[in-house]
Amino acid sequence: MSPNRRLRIVEDVPALAAAAAEAFAGLAAEAIAARGRFVVALTGGQTPRPIFEHLAATPHREGIPWRDIEFFWIDERPVPPDHADSNYGLAERTLLSHVPIDRRRVHRMHGEDADPDATADAYASTIASTIDATVASSPPAFDLIQLGMGADGHTASLFPETKALHEVRRWVVVNDVPRLRTRRLTFTFPLINAARTIHVFVAGEQKAAVLRSVLEGPPDPDRYPAQRIAPSSGEVIWFLDRSAARLLTP
Ligand code: 6PG
Repeated sequence: MSPNRRLRIVEDVPALAAAAAEAFAGLAAEAIAARGRFVVALTGGQTPRPIFEHLAATPHREGIPWRDIEFFWIDERPVPPDHADSNYGLAERTLLSHVPIDRRRVHRMHGEDADPDATADAYASTIASTIDATVASSPPAFDLIQLGMGADGHTASLFPETKALHEVRRWVVVNDVPRLRTRRLTFTFPLINAARTIHVFVAGEQKAAVLRSVLEGPPDPDRYPAQRIAPSSGEVIWFLDRSAARLLTP
């Protein structure tokens, strides 16, 4: 296993949510002490729901300096923020509406926009201006990027055999996903792998086989995009419940 990759295997989803929330709080405290703010990109999907709910409850609701956090999203579906499928909507309903954030620091990814390519570039510019980088330079370092993994080995909206897997320059792109007959806005691997810390959340029996292929199988990153999660200088922690980790080599 690469030196900057750790697995945290916990009993079940509630334990995964508690561990992930605790780690989020620790990283927030560190970043704010060191740089005066915490720049995080939240994941989508359903796995983060209990994590967000944990963060919105005591002791994290009171303990985390929410006003010092810049919120971004790693990807978004082509839906408005109040749509059931919106990744922003999930975070808004389960976390952001329950904690004292600074609304000026919530950077929603506008998945519903008519010109998603322009929206992707505008989002990259917002990242650059927030993290004091220039879009032409190498990707800036988020303090934390959260990711999930699908049962097909995708992460963010970087699906198997799709064009965005090979993006080496842009930080945010539109990715056509023929299998889902949709397009999505997504971070690219250059931006993901520039993060100081990456948390990947994988839970459930249905992901056990693909998780073994991703973590222990031969390199096949077009088929298993999550194999490309490899921070250049940061660290990646895989938060796994026992069901998902069942097939991994002890
Ligand atoms: C999304 C996520 C996606 C998600 C995986 C796992 O927009 O759906 O970014 O990458 O993390 O599909 O989804 P679940 O957590 O729902 O299993």
